[in-house]
Amino acid sequence: MFDASQKVRTQVYAHRGFAARAPENTLPAFAFAIEAGADGIEFDVQMTADGELIVIHDDTVDRTTDGSGQVAQQTLRDLRRLDAGSWFAPEFAGVSVPTLDEVLMLAAEAPYPVMLNLELKYGDTPYPALEFRAWERVIAYGLGARTIVSSFYHEPLRRLKRAQPEAEIALLYQDGLVDPWLYARYLDAGALHPYYKSVTAEQIAQIQQQGVKVRVYTVNAEDDLRRFCRWGVDAVITEHPDLARALCAPRPRRH
Ligand code: G3P
Ligand code: MG
Repeated sequence: MFDASQKVRTQVYAHRGFAARAPENTLPAFAFAIEAGADGIEFDVQMTADGELIVIHDDTVDRTTDGSGQVAQQTLRDLRRLDAGSWFAPEFAGVSVPTLDEVLMLAAEAPYPVMLNLELKYGDTPYPALEFRAWERVIAYGLGARTIVSSFYHEPLRRLKRAQPEAEIALLYQDGLVDPWLYARYLDAGALHPYYKSVTAEQIAQIQQQGVKVRVYTVNAEDDLRRFCRWGVDAVITEHPDLARALCAPRPRRH
């Protein structure tokens, strides 16, 4: 049964910002995502050697800057000297690895209430209290209601949810799970963020029927974007937010 008066649309979250247009996890990438009208921006948070929170994906700076070495072994000052833009294109030369505060400020000043998907990265390094430190900054910018905290590491998410029940958490996972909504409910997670190849249309519908949202990562190909929007997933996390916005038209709400 469809009620044509009630339409919903798959939301579009820009993966590491508009990563197809600008160097991933940089302020230009987030600004372009907002310009493209992304419903949300996804980004990865880690901690420097001197305990500062920064936005970068890999354990090392090698791939996305002109430096080398572990993120966790460098101070904020070290990291801020690096060029995080030239590897992508010369026009981005001199762009820095952003702090979490800079990304939050950009979001707080956006012309519409863009959602934030803050992914906690741990990698080789068990960053102490990363979840609490990051959440404290989110609250400082008044962005608690617009933030979803996700991670492949579910213990920190559980700790955060227990301490701060208002925090929305989402569980990232790579491979197929059986009845994953049971696990989501067990951890009081409002959403599952599966790898897009690990879920079927049937499983997405089942998860949603249990009141749990599904946001799939990372969907970049046009036919995959069309398919997930048709399946009615709650959000696609994509490096092509412009294309996804064009493809994911409003559809009647499922009853
Ligand atoms: O949050 C979705 C996605 O970003 C998870 O994988 O490795 O790109 O951070 P990764
Ligand atoms: Mg990520």
